[in-house]
Amino acid sequence: MLKLAVLVSGGGTNLQALIDQIEQNKLTGVKIEVVISNREGAYALTRAKQHGISSEVILKKDYADKEAYAEALLKLLDSYRPDLVVLAGCLLIIPEQVVRSYQNRIINIHPALIPAFCGDGYYGLKVHEAVLERGVKVTGATVHFVDEGTDTGPIILQKAVYVQPGDTPEVLQQRVMEEAEWELLPKAVQLIADHKILIENNIVTIKE
Ligand code: GRF
Repeated sequence: MLKLAVLVSGGGTNLQALIDQIEQNKLTGVKIEVVISNREGAYALTRAKQHGISSEVILKKDYADKEAYAEALLKLLDSYRPDLVVLAGCLLIIPEQVVRSYQNRIINIHPALIPAFCGDGYYGLKVHEAVLERGVKVTGATVHFVDEGTDTGPIILQKAVYVQPGDTPEVLQQRVMEEAEWELLPKAVQLIADHKILIENNIVTIKE
């Protein structure tokens, strides 16, 4: 059984996609041990409670400095002994010591086709605003391993989504979530649960 710790900050639609697929037995051999939020009011926490999943909130303001927060986050994660940490709409930059402790065991869903529209400042709606401003015709989503950089780890899965005439950032975000994110994240977790992921020289290959 692959045990997950899911880190969230907002609405939790990607978390919901994982919950739904597990409950519908479409995602198998996986259990969400805990949902951890860096924001108190995150609706993702409500989703966890609605499905009887343990949830925790860990706020930066409760710690003296970044080091203390990082230590507390690592201790909290370790207490649940997850096999995989999933960043699902998580706006927290994962502290280096956490990335090191969970090397190649943290994945993130980014709402663009990395290396486009990613890195510092590209998150949530801002990604789709930049996509529309640039006038690209195709965007999409990416699931990747988290390394010490921002959106720079080995890419696991990607899916393209067409930009439509008249798209607003909100409409485009919804389409990218519906057509790509909510499909790719559970799929990537299943591949990891089934030990089908190989990483060599920062390149992911998927075993048949
Ligand atoms: C969305 O912008 C999504 O594209 C990105 O994080 C934001 C919130 O996701 N992954 P969620 O609804 O909290 O999963």
